[in-house]
Amino acid sequence: MTYHPVIGWEDGRGVPTLEAIGVRPGHTVLDFGCRVGRYVFPAAAVVGDQGRVYAIDKEKDALEILKRKAAEEEWVNITPILTSGELTLEFDDATMDLVLVYDVMHRMSQRDRQLLMQEIARVLKTGGILSTMLCHTEKYENEQGDPGCSTDELIAEIEAAGLSFDRQLPATGVHFECDGSYWPHEGTVSLDVLEKETVFNFFKRPGR
Ligand SMILES: C[S@@+](CC[C@H](N)C(=O)[O-])C[C@H]1O[C@@H](n2cnc3c(N)ncnc32)[C@H](O)[C@@H]1O
Repeated sequence: MTYHPVIGWEDGRGVPTLEAIGVRPGHTVLDFGCRVGRYVFPAAAVVGDQGRVYAIDKEKDALEILKRKAAEEEWVNITPILTSGELTLEFDDATMDLVLVYDVMHRMSQRDRQLLMQEIARVLKTGGILSTMLCHTEKYENEQGDPGCSTDELIAEIEAAGLSFDRQLPATGVHFECDGSYWPHEGTVSLDVLEKETVFNFFKRPGR
């Protein structure tokens, strides 16, 4: 398997999208549930040599694709981390400027979401950003059989972990659904045909 670029993403909207989300040069970024790294590579381009992007996933094959692309293109500021799906994060307190959780939470139980959000609140610096894209969450039963929940419920859960809702960015996130009907021929997908989703940004309050 190889990484197939999306026309208009790697060569166009990727970097400005990550900038709009809040990534800045020198930032330390965590992408939790990064899959093949659609957001990792433009984030790495924005943070530059003085920054770093940690890319966590539990799918070995997906992370191998990310690692191969990172090696081929000689990215030195990306750290891929294969996990077993644990929600505890092996980072010190207050070390991250921005954490991405995009299209990941729909498979998690409420308890797991709470654990992850508490961990993210712990590793974020004061003022640091949690950026989420909440695909599928209303429609899907998760792996534990819990029913889906609304965006408002998810926002309330995230705030209960100590992160304050900041703003929404409509049609900013890209839903890189891996098995959608618009992926008939890998390598020929254009950004134009992919769904655009609202991004919800939160920040860590002082004193947490
Ligand atoms: C639908 S993909 C989204 C990928 C990426 N965030 C994007 O938007 O392109 C969800 C990814 O989250 C990962 N994931 C889900 N739960 C996880 C966990 N507990 N630990 C690590 N990765 C997880 C899955 O393995 C999968 O690669």
